[in-house]
Amino acid sequence: MNKKIRKIGVLTGGGDCPGLNAVIRAVVKTAIREYRLSVTGFENGFGGLIQNRARDLTEKDVIGILPRGGTILGTTNRDNPFYYPIMINGERVFKDVSDRIVENINIHDIDALIIIGGDGSLSIGKELYEKKGLPVVGVPKTIDNDLSATDQTFGFDTALETATEAIDKLHTTAESHHRIIVLEVMGRYAGWIALEAGLAGGADVILIPEIPYTLENVVRKIHARQDKGKTFSIVVAAEGAKPVGGEMVVQRRVEDSFEPIRLGGIGNVVAYQIEEATGLETRATVLGHLQRGGSPTPFDRILATRYGAGAVNLVMSGRFGEMVCLRTPNIESVPLAKAVGEQRLVPIDGDMVRTARQIGISFGD
Ligand code: F6P
Repeated sequence: MNKKIRKIGVLTGGGDCPGLNAVIRAVVKTAIREYRLSVTGFENGFGGLIQNRARDLTEKDVIGILPRGGTILGTTNRDNPFYYPIMINGERVFKDVSDRIVENINIHDIDALIIIGGDGSLSIGKELYEKKGLPVVGVPKTIDNDLSATDQTFGFDTALETATEAIDKLHTTAESHHRIIVLEVMGRYAGWIALEAGLAGGADVILIPEIPYTLENVVRKIHARQDKGKTFSIVVAAEGAKPVGGEMVVQRRVEDSFEPIRLGGIGNVVAYQIEEATGLETRATVLGHLQRGGSPTPFDRILATRYGAGAVNLVMSGRFGEMVCLRTPNIESVPLAKAVGEQRLVPIDGDMVRTARQIGISFGD
């Protein structure tokens, strides 16, 4: 055990997801009970570190938070310390304020910092470790499950359950009204939520970014069902799905966000096109942030708890610049440098896609 570690800091960065509180709880409990450390939580991601908004976290502070969605520390996908917006003479300019983070870490006597985040927050963690020498350890979260360095991120399983429940509910109304319903789910540039929820919910068509679709093929599948007397169809569209030779549907661009492109809108686009092409009544449902909220599933609670304890263990072994990861069945670690920037996309000839095709699901290709 590294005797020099007395106090650790923790923050949650990027978009929230179910299980963040479970990680915070496990960090606090492991740090205090196992290693007799104290813990400071920084509020609202890197914003709290830049603006020195911090509070002590004791075991009392984490009572009852295991099943709670969101994060008691708050989060944001803005406030990148290396590209931070500042007003100068009424004009917004972007500055590197990472030294403020170093100052605040020193003010609070933090010996190690645990960053719970997705690709954006972990990339900043990597920079803080490499450029500023900060003792950083990462914990991977995101409902998108698109980090290559871990078998699974926490939050995904809960989002999957929410999306599957939505498909189940849409089935009954689509069937009653003989309609086509398109469900748009999140996932950014990866199709995991759409693919797995589509499989679990029995979708007829699944559109994912990894497999560009044509409207003709989607319509062909719907017509084939009609020919068999199936008067309704369920289409699940990942927000990042795109037609062959076309682009993803972008809602807006957000300059100072970790993720400058806000995706969304494919559901309505595809629903309109299907109705135009088939004459069949077609509706769209956008699941949106419902996928990010609510109580984590048992799987996510357990994974998040193992990640939280694992992150403190990494700190105590001096393994800075690393991130905890799941290498089923074990919690292991990987250098942040390897963990960030490499997306885990759906393998288009993988077993899950093959199985989906075998049972008649169309990917519109
Ligand atoms: O990365 C998680 C995620 O929910 C994506 O699936 C989605 O594209 C994005 O975040 C939405 O972010 P925001 O909450 O900033 O709109």
